[in-house]
Parts: sequence; C-alpha cells; structure tokens
Amino acid sequence: MAYVRVENAVKYFPREDGSEMLVLDGVSFEAKEFGITCLLGPSGCGKSTLLNIITGLERLEQGRAEVVSNHRESGKEDPRLGYVFQDPRLLNWKRVEDNLIFALKGMGIPREVWDERVEKYLSLVGLIEFRKQYPLYLSGGMRQRVGLARGLVIEPEVLLMDEPYSKLDHLTARKLREDTLEICARLKQTALLVTHDVEEAAFMGDRIVIFSPRPAHIADIFDNPLPPLERDMDDSRFIQFKKKLLQSVMRLIKTEEV
Ligand SMILES: Nc1ncnc2c1ncn2[C@@H]1O[C@H](COP(=O)(O)OP(=O)(O)OP(=O)(O)O)[C@@H](O)[C@H]1O
Ligand SMILES: [Mg+2]
Repeated sequence: MAYVRVENAVKYFPREDGSEMLVLDGVSFEAKEFGITCLLGPSGCGKSTLLNIITGLERLEQGRAEVVSNHRESGKEDPRLGYVFQDPRLLNWKRVEDNLIFALKGMGIPREVWDERVEKYLSLVGLIEFRKQYPLYLSGGMRQRVGLARGLVIEPEVLLMDEPYSKLDHLTARKLREDTLEICARLKQTALLVTHDVEEAAFMGDRIVIFSPRPAHIADIFDNPLPPLERDMDDSRFIQFKKKLLQSVMRLIKTEEV
C-alpha cells in the first residue's frame, strides 16, 4: 500500500543572528509498510521537523522525504496522512463525533460513509458511547483516544504520531500504547511514531530508527524481533531488545560528551 522513504534529508533553520542551524544532516531510512516505525532520538534533534517535512509544512534543502504509494502516481496527488499530536488539539466546541466529521469533510470523504466511519473508529478506541459528548467533559486519556480516532477515521495511507503519550500519566499511557498497537496491527496501518522513550520504542516499533543528537543523522536501525502482539515488557526477549536500543542511544550520548 504505502511506505515512507527518506533519502539524504538535509534541513537548516535560520538562527536569530541570521546564521543557519543544521538540523537534519543527511537522514536516510525507510519506514515499514503495514507496521509502526519509531523515530527515537533526543529532544531537539529534528524528529517533529521531519514529520512536518513529510506533511509538506516544511521543505528540505536537499534530499527527499516522501510517502510512496502504489495507489497514487508520485507527485500527482498528495498522500492521505493522519496526524496524532502530543496534545489532542480537538475542537472543544464540537462534539466528539463532529471532530471526526470535521476531519472527514476536510479530506473530501463522501458524506454517505461518514456515519459508518465515525462508528467504526470510535468503537475501535472504545469511545462509541461518548460520540455526543464535548471534549472538555472527557479525561485527558479519552481526549487522546479521540485524537487517535480522528487520525484513523480518514483511513490514512500513513498515520503520523508525534509523542502521543508523553502528556498522559503512566498507566493511561501504558493502556493507550497497548490499544494503539492492537488497533494498528488489526488495521495493518503504516505509521510513524516519534518518541524519545526507549521502552516505548521497543514496545511500539516494528522498526526503530535511532537519531543522533542535532545535527541528526541515523545512528542505527533495528527491526523488532517480536511481533506486535507478543511484546511483553517482563519477557526476557523484550528486555534484551530494549537493552540493545538503550546501548545504541547511550553510545550516542557518550560520543556527544567527548
Ligand atoms: N520553524 C522553526 N524555525 C527555527 N527553528 C526551528 C523551527 N522548528 C524547529 N526549529 C529548531 O529545530 C530543532 C529541531 O526541532 P524539532 O522540534 O524538530 O525537534 P524534536 O526532535 O521534535 O524535539 P522534541 O523531542 O523536544 O520534540 C530545534 O533546535 C528547534 O529549535
Ligand atoms: Mg518534537
């Protein structure tokens, strides 16, 4: 269906003093089709910038970052992308279902399927009973679930998630990670998930792409030896994989200090 290809991506941002700051220094990787690819890296290395480049909000100075799809001729049509943010960014004056409809409408999806889609995706995130509720009457975890449903309801070629659990308490985040993993596996959803949490990456990622501190290059790419629904945080195989990721991240930090 669709995957993401990033080739030699170079991005600068202007500094206040007029000089240029190199953010992405030749980043290359391919994201897994039908799976979750985690972009793991320290704060400020350019992870969100890369998502903004994929969505077309920012431009690269060199290289390319694109969604490759066999349903679409490259360059002719924009890819259909779903987005889940750190804050759910819901429209608080619209009911839960209308937040989803707003996304469907924006994407030009025909009215005849709206109801069916809303029902399907609110059910998947466990919030069908709350379809008529206003977001401000929901808990933070529930709001984030609405954000996930809104990202999925347009049936995106690629779902982009930028630290979607980082503002939730430990247990809420843990449950939502498990549910996201199960939903994405069931839908065979191609997704990119940005995180700076090694355990989250080991749990969520079918592939983990490790970014160096800024200016970012790709330090390592690991494929998860465990299938999504067989990842148990107490299992020795999971712990071993997490250690491998941690070693790679620690090596980068040490190199930085020298
Ligand atoms: N529009 C912009 N103009 C200038 N500098 C920017 C802009 N957007 C981001 N930056 C800078 O680019 C660098 C990378 O930012 P980015 O938000 O991509 O990092 P990140 O890896 O997502 O970090 P975090 O994990 O903290 O969210 C930072 O130093 C940031 O200050
Ligand atoms: Mg970010």
